[in-house]
Amino acid sequence: MRIGVLGAGRMTEALVPGWIRAGHDVLIGGRTPAKAEDLAQRVGAKAGTLREAAEFGDVLLLAVLLAGLEETLVAAGGPEGALAGKTIIDCGNAVDLSDFSRIAFEGGMSMAEEVARLAPGAHVVKAFNQAHGDVWKMRPPAFDGRPFAVPIAGDEEGKAAARTLITDLGAESLDAGDLTQARHLEAMAIIVIRLLFSGYDPLSVFAFTGGTGATTT
Ligand SMILES: NC(=O)c1ccc[n+]([C@@H]2O[C@H](COP(=O)([O-])OP(=O)(O)OC[C@H]3O[C@@H](n4cnc5c(N)ncnc54)[C@H](OP(=O)(O)O)[C@@H]3O)[C@@H](O)[C@H]2O)c1
Repeated sequence: MRIGVLGAGRMTEALVPGWIRAGHDVLIGGRTPAKAEDLAQRVGAKAGTLREAAEFGDVLLLAVLLAGLEETLVAAGGPEGALAGKTIIDCGNAVDLSDFSRIAFEGGMSMAEEVARLAPGAHVVKAFNQAHGDVWKMRPPAFDGRPFAVPIAGDEEGKAAARTLITDLGAESLDAGDLTQARHLEAMAIIVIRLLFSGYDPLSVFAFTGGTGATTT
């Protein structure tokens, strides 16, 4: 797969190495070119501008803070239709780190739905938003011997790409529904983020067990 990355921060650093190992071709684009180049060199990817990353990828990883969302998608050409037909995997969270009680968007809308608004025609999927980046340093990411489950929400084409990239990291996908369900995935993430900020282990995760197959009485 050709993966263009919008954002050159911690989540990009966490996810890209596994995709490179799986044989994908990755170009990292960042607001700050020196950071994108430095990170790309460390993980074995190419580097470029946000627009170049958007043009390069059939699938895009969007890994930016909420404050940079609009600026990033404008730079990538989203509102002008340049991302139509591409898959955008959004790992972000609509969270205000200075006030966890604040609802970022009118009506409780998610960051992923805002991505869809700013990138008309793109296949948007929410994924990778719930776990700290350190989880992706585990090989494989597993807890008590069970593969880590990554919930995904979005349209079918977006989810198909996300499933492949989750499997390539040694994890399992968990279909949480359409893009409206990103609201709930982001709300869940805020619970984890608050705990991490209060000193919890970065490997703290919601562990979906998928049932045992046993009958109950
Ligand atoms: N870190 C985690 O463990 C983790 C886990 C799950 C989900 N997430 C989510 O993933 C997203 C990315 O997190 P991260 O930890 O990778 O973030 P990060 O390292 O702080 O930064 C990621 C990117 O966001 C850009 N950015 C930040 N503020 C901006 C602004 N005002 N305008 C334009 N660009 C801006 C940065 O550009 P510069 O380099 O130019 O500053 C950088 O390229 C967030 O929404 C976060 O909630 C993070």
